Order: sequence, then C-alpha cells, then structure tokens
Amino acid sequence: MPTYPNAISPDRTEREAALSEAATAALRAPSIFNTQPWQWRITAGAAELRVDRSRQLPIVDPEGRLATISCGIALHHLVTALAAEGWQAEVSRIPDPAEPDFLARVTLAGRASSPDLAAVRHYESTLIRHTDRRPFGKTAVPRETVEAVRDAVEAHGAHLHVIRPDQLVELILAAGQAAEVEAADPAYREELETWTHRPAAAGDGVPAETAVADVPRRVRVRDFALDNAPKLEAGDDDDSGTVYTVLFTNGDNRRAWLESGEAMSAALLTAVEHGVSASPMSDLTEVAGTQQALRRILSGIGEPMLVIRLGISDPVTAVPGTPRRSPDEVIERVGEQ
Ligand SMILES: Cc1cc2nc3c(=O)[nH]c(=O)nc-3n(C[C@H](O)[C@H](O)[C@H](O)COP(=O)(O)O)c2cc1C
Repeated sequence: MPTYPNAISPDRTEREAALSEAATAALRAPSIFNTQPWQWRITAGAAELRVDRSRQLPIVDPEGRLATISCGIALHHLVTALAAEGWQAEVSRIPDPAEPDFLARVTLAGRASSPDLAAVRHYESTLIRHTDRRPFGKTAVPRETVEAVRDAVEAHGAHLHVIRPDQLVELILAAGQAAEVEAADPAYREELETWTHRPAAAGDGVPAETAVADVPRRVRVRDFALDNAPKLEAGDDDDSGTVYTVLFTNGDNRRAWLESGEAMSAALLTAVEHGVSASPMSDLTEVAGTQQALRRILSGIGEPMLVIRLGISDPVTAVPGTPRRSPDEVIERVGEQ
C-alpha cells in the first residue's frame, strides 16, 4: 500500500478534479441578465459557492434575491454534473450564518455503483438549453410535461402554480405594468443598457442576438432591446399554446431563494427533456405592485420568486447561445485546507 507523506494522494487529485470539472460545467447555468454572479472555491474535499456581490444588479435586484436564485441554479448544475459522473454529493446550504454570502458547501460522499441516468439526461440538457424569448406556438404544452416540471420543482422544496384561465387577465395586466414601470425608470434603462452592451471579452450579458422585438403577444415579456434593434426574429407565433407558471416558496429568505434556484434549474432541464422551451420572467417580482399581484394569484399561500413561461417553439430556427465567463475568473482552486 503506497503512502504519500508530503505528496498529493491520487484520491485527493481525483476529487479535486471532479469538483473543478463540475464547477466548469456549472458555468452554463442561466442567470439574471447573464451576470453569472457566483464564485467557486475548490478545496480537495469540497466546492464552496459564494454569491459575487460585485455582480448583483442594484436596480433590478437590490436585495440579491435574483442573484441568489441564479447561484442556486449553478449549484444544481454542479450537483447534476457530479451525479452524471457517478459522484454522490452532499450539500450543506448556508453553512456559516456568520458569512451570509457563503451559500453552499458541496462535499463528495462517494461513488455510485452505476451512473445516475436521470442526472446524465439532465447534464445533457444543460448543453442544449437556452432561454427562448420568442412567442411560443399554438400547440398546447402536454399536461404530463407540466406535471413533470411541477414534480421537479417540488423535489427541491419549492412549488409551481400553473396560471388558470381565469387568472390570465391579472397576469397580462401585471406583465404590462412591470414592463411600463421599469422602462420608465432611467436607472433601470441604464442597467439594462450596461448588461446588453458588454465587451466580447467579458463573457457575460445578454446579446442582441437573443433579444426579440416587443411584438403583440398574450403576455408581455421583458424587452431586452428597448431603443436598440433586437436581432432574433420574433416569428409569427403569439403564445396561444403557452403555459404560464409561478415558481414560489414557503419562505422569503436566503435559503428559500437558493433552493428555488435549484428547483428552477430542475424545472428548466425537465422542460428540455420534454421538448418544451422555457423562459423566465422575473420582471413581475422586481416591481412591488406586480409582485403583490402574483401574491394575489397565489391566494397568499407562498412567496412568488418568478414566472416561467413554457411552450413549443419554432423547431427550425435555433436560439443562439449566450457567452460565459472563463473558468479561471469564477473558480479558485485552493487545495487541501
Ligand atoms: C433569476 C433569473 C431571472 C431571469 N429573468 C428573465 C426575464 O425577466 N426575462 C428574460 O427574458 N429572461 C430572464 N432570465 C433569463 C436570462 O436572461 C438568461 O438565463 C441569460 O441571459 C443566459 O442565457 P441562457 O439562459 O440562454 O443561457 C432570467 C434568468 C434567471 C436565472
């Protein structure tokens, strides 16, 4: 049996490599304005996730709720990538209350005897998932898909409310109001302008190639182009088969935000596996009045995190991908602690 007095053991190297690779895979996670507000610290035994406050949006997200949800998505992407490689992970959420930005510590508990096929499917979905802002088509989203998405959310301790036909008018009014309130705020316009006009080297932000014109549709979505020219054709669809859902939680604290991000990741990947496109709408929870409208839609049973639009999109034209930061900027390797 070899010993490794002052050397790095193969087991340690393998674990560190597995965690680093999974953190790299987690770069694909979607985030608010594609800010990618996370920082990973890899030790030999753990991956530590912290929210990067310098990437929090002061106007859209003053409390850091959407940044924390985005980190929860990255956390789920990391655990998914580990499981797809056969690693069983243990997650400790908000491990040190004295350090509120420290959101999770992931440790490796061991290896499974066979690959987790559900995780492999989820991992493959992370490679092809994109936010699709075009209006979706007339084809109704199958009920089994909506149920599978809801089950995925519930498995992570969050909840999904499917907007009923009698609630659609309230949603339409709220989405219109959110769009108008935000577009009338010069500070919002400046923040949006910053994150839609990033230098290529930044590897972040929302490019014009993924923005669509503010065309007539059932429920308005955030206009990422405002006065600029969007580059993605909106197409002829009008969202008539679209299902609108509200992701909500029991609590409204850091842990609830983090877990709702994990739930949102599972929801988006499940939708991909069912051939359904998804696009988040958080503007409704960024404006106090429309956040209140969503609470009314939920009859006060929970705290709305955001709306997720599900639909069948044009199968011919693919939505282009968005840039990502380089692993070196996001992942710090510190070795044995
Ligand atoms: C918490 C959160 C909120 C988001 N809110 C919106 C939104 O209001 N409207 C929208 O079109 N996209 C929204 N998105 C999608 C992001 O803009 C998108 O994930 C990002 O630009 C990266 O692109 P990708 O999802 O295609 O990888 C949101 C994403 C997250 C994680």
